Amino acid sequence: MASHSKEWALVTGASQGIGLELARCFAEQGINLVLVARSGDRLQQLAAEWSGRYHIQVEPMAMDLSQDNAADELYARVTQAGIRVTYLVNNAGFGLFGPYQDTDMAREHEMIQLNCLVLTRLTKLFLGEMLAQKQGRILNVASTASFQPGPYQAVYFATKAYVLSFSEAIAEDLANTGVTVTALCPGLTASGFIDRAEMGHSGFVKRSGIATAESVARFGYRAMQRGKRVAIPGLLNRLSALAPRWIPRRWVTWMVAMMMRPAANLRKSIV
Ligand SMILES: NC(=O)c1ccc[n+]([C@@H]2O[C@H](COP(=O)([O-])OP(=O)(O)OC[C@H]3O[C@@H](n4cnc5c(N)ncnc54)[C@H](OP(=O)(O)O)[C@@H]3O)[C@@H](O)[C@H]2O)c1
Repeated sequence: MASHSKEWALVTGASQGIGLELARCFAEQGINLVLVARSGDRLQQLAAEWSGRYHIQVEPMAMDLSQDNAADELYARVTQAGIRVTYLVNNAGFGLFGPYQDTDMAREHEMIQLNCLVLTRLTKLFLGEMLAQKQGRILNVASTASFQPGPYQAVYFATKAYVLSFSEAIAEDLANTGVTVTALCPGLTASGFIDRAEMGHSGFVKRSGIATAESVARFGYRAMQRGKRVAIPGLLNRLSALAPRWIPRRWVTWMVAMMMRPAANLRKSIV
């Protein structure tokens, strides 16, 4: 059966984790989908499954978004397919664990490209049509990392601070245009993220409660539909996002270092 909806959502990083669960939220509402990630087979599989189950159109677009010009190429493919995007979800992103002096510069370059540059450029490219229609919803996946500096993940925390700052600023620029911008700021969430960031031995991961990708995505989806500017799932995460407003920044940075450092180092420093 063909889709009845004329609306399309584009979700980056839709092959797994939070992005996959966000894409599922749109599918359940009968909204057509463009799914973007590198894992083409997985996207094909989701497209076949969801187009049948939810009676929507699903276009898998396999792409490595960390490549130069990726945003422009994606925009060109979407436009050529005659798709007008009403919902843009900038979710694809990754982190990297370790003291800055030890981490890989090429991976960090890729991270800034994916977490910041692609998100910024896709937003600009798809915004034109949304403004012309006076209708659009942009959901940018930031993090609780957005609220303070992050020793042991310096570049990742900085990219997420960028995502939050950028999103809040353009939400104000776009006030009364019919286009809303929401920054979703999850805390630690079960997904491929922890392994990709090589942070399994971080004391923070070992001690923290972990949300499901589904609960985080549903929270973010609702906030986006309501046009909320900042959405932080979980009471503890909301409190931890507030703390840096009251505590001197130097202390906050030290506290994050204590939480993040590898569990073995933490035991040594306490003994
Ligand atoms: N999990 C957490 O604890 C947590 C907390 C706060 C914020 N976040 C944020 O949530 C977002 C989603 O992360 P997640 O936790 O769901 O992690 P994940 O399970 O690792 O998923 C990441 C997604 O991004 C895609 N992706 C990665 N690199 C890509 C590239 N170069 N080009 C295209 N797609 C790419 C991956 O697909 P392919 O590998 O198929 O390309 C995958 O679909 C990220 O922005 C992350 O920073 C996560």
